[in-house]
This record gives sequence, structure tokens and C-alpha cells, in this order.
Amino acid sequence: MQKEVVLSGIRSTGFLHLGNYFGAMRNYVRMQDDFDCYFFVADWHALTTHPDTKELRNSVLRVLAENIACGLDPEKACLYVQSHVPEIAELYMLLNMLAYKGELEKTTTFKDKVRLQPQNVNAGLLTYPVLMAADILVHRAFKVPVGKDQEQHLEMARNFAQRFNHRYGDVFPEPVAFNFGESLVKVPSLDGAGKMSKSENQMATLYLADDDELIRKKVMKAKSDSGPTEPNSDKPDYIENLFQLMRLVSKKETVDQFEADYNNCTIRYGDMKKQMAEDMVAFIAPIREKAAAIYADEKYLAEVMQTGAEKARKSAGATLALVREHMGLKYF
Ligand code: ADP
Ligand code: TRP
Repeated sequence: MQKEVVLSGIRSTGFLHLGNYFGAMRNYVRMQDDFDCYFFVADWHALTTHPDTKELRNSVLRVLAENIACGLDPEKACLYVQSHVPEIAELYMLLNMLAYKGELEKTTTFKDKVRLQPQNVNAGLLTYPVLMAADILVHRAFKVPVGKDQEQHLEMARNFAQRFNHRYGDVFPEPVAFNFGESLVKVPSLDGAGKMSKSENQMATLYLADDDELIRKKVMKAKSDSGPTEPNSDKPDYIENLFQLMRLVSKKETVDQFEADYNNCTIRYGDMKKQMAEDMVAFIAPIREKAAAIYADEKYLAEVMQTGAEKARKSAGATLALVREHMGLKYF
């Protein structure tokens, strides 16, 4: 039986962090055995907000190296870079005719970015969801493992697919955001405000490239207080976040012990953070070291990119042939 097609992408806009790992990469790794997987580095998407390309190459190679270090196997999943597959640009251009200015202007991420970079509201930013739809539809992918922040983009991809199918005939499945039945993961930042992210608030985000001392320093600085005064009281958000982070990397018995200490008011956050810092170090250090070794092996990464691009272009080329045929763009 043919395996279902799965696809996802990560922008090359900076260092990957614990949120990317638990929100995205862990799911990729779990899916690579059972699905026909395509995972790529979205370097064109990065240009919509990061026009300076000095760091682009490093970022692209690092995202690849970190994904492989987290367990993605280029022999199992197709790993590639978006700009190596020009068929995506062709489909993006064609889908642009089916996307309306009004709906693009209403997209939440567009409105956020207009607020963040009012000096650079470019057409690429406006049509970001169309490019993302092209990424997905070019492999006729069905399942798309992403975090909650991408749900609206997925809905738009379904709309574009539907419009195409309706007008020109059935070519595309309607893609859905996918996770493993658990509630969608949101990895909180260490300062109790918002989520870990690539570019905001770097001292409150744990990056997969952070060294042991920096990890300890960030964890020890995490927001806490002098502890509860009433037994079994509710946890303030920033304390709940600490427990949530600890649950990601520490043994269940360890977390249970600190829960019990919290409930009988004997908890010492200094001890809890020390324990969490060590468990974070134990989790991140092997990934960091593996990623550094892969990142240094440019020959290997070039091979991965080349093999990935070939496979991706084959699949994308087959879709584009169907698209042109259904649209009547075939003149001889
Ligand atoms: P960032 O927001 O750090 O720039 P991206 O937008 O490139 O990261 O997101 C890549 C993937 O990682 C997406 O699937 C996104 O949902 C997921 N992700 C990013 N930050 C978090 C977080 N703090 N918790 C859970 N998932 C996250
Ligand atoms: N927009 C996604 C993000 O910011 C990255 C992305 C680009 C993507 N193209 C995609 C994710 C296609 C899934 C499928 O995280």
C-alpha cells in the first residue's frame, strides 16, 4: 500500500530551540518510519522577514544538522532545501491567481508582521501563506506536523487546494495539521511570558546549541518566588511553566517529588532549578555535540541536500505536470 505523504518545514531564521524540538522535530522523527516524509528548510520564507543573507548559509546548514542530530534520517525521510526545488516557485505563482488580497491581508501572522516590521511590508510577506500552500501541495501532502501557530496557514492551504480542484479538476488532497493525538505542544519560555522562540528573548529560550554553563545559567535565572504558603495551592503560571519544562526532560519520579514538595510547602525552587538544569544539560548536550559534528561535515551535508533535492524535484515535477495539464497549459 502506498504510504501517506507527510510534509513540514522550518524557517532558517536562527538557532533551533526546545520549542522547535518538542513542537516539531520530535514529531518528524516519530513519523519517518510510517509515512512518505518530506522535511525541508524554508529559506525563501526566511527572506520575507530576514532580507540580510549574511547568515543564511550558516542557518540553512545548521537547521539541517540539528534536524539530523535530533534523529531525522536522510535515508528514510527526504530532507531538502526549498530553494533547490524551483517547481515550488512555479506552483506558488499559479496559486497566487487563486488567492485574494482581502484574505491575505486578514491573516494573523501577516498582521503581526506588519506591526513588527512596518518598514518592510513586502509582497512576499503578504503571500507567505500561498508559498506555504505551494510547499505542501507540490508533493500532494496530506498530513502536516506543525505547532498551533500554523493552523490558520493550513486552513488557507486547504482553501487554495479546494479552489484549484473546483476550477481545474481534482489534483490536490486537502492537507491537515497533524499531531499525535496529544494536545498541541507549546513550550513556555523561562521568564514566564510567552513561548520559547528563535529570535525573541534569547535568555529565556534554551537553544539546542547552548553550552552546559549557559543552560545552567538560563535555568537558574528562571522566574520563581519564595514558594507556596498554603498546602495544595494553585501554581502561578510561571511556576506551572517550570514544572511543564521539567516534565519534558526529567524522570517522572523527580517531577513527582517536587510536586509533593510543592503541595506540602517544602519546595525549594533553587534545588528544583538545579535538578532541572542538570536534566536539561543531559538532554541537550548529546544533540549539541552530534549537531556540531554534522555541521562541520560540509561534504556530508552537501550530499544530503543534493539527494534530497533530486527526490523532491521528482515528486514536485510529477505534480506540476498534472497541474499544467489540468489547467490547460499544454500547447503541443
Ligand atoms: P520560531 O517560532 O521559533 O521562529 P518556527 O516558526 O520556525 O519557530 O517554527 C518551526 C516549528 O516549531 C513550527 O512547527 C512551530 O509550530 C514549532 N514551534 C516553535 N516554537 C515553539 C514552542 N515554543 N513550542 C512548541 N512548538 C513550537
Ligand atoms: N510557516 C512555517 C513556520 O513558520 C514554516 C513553513 C513553511 C512550513 N512552509 C511550510 C511548515 C510548509 C509546514 C509546511 O513554522
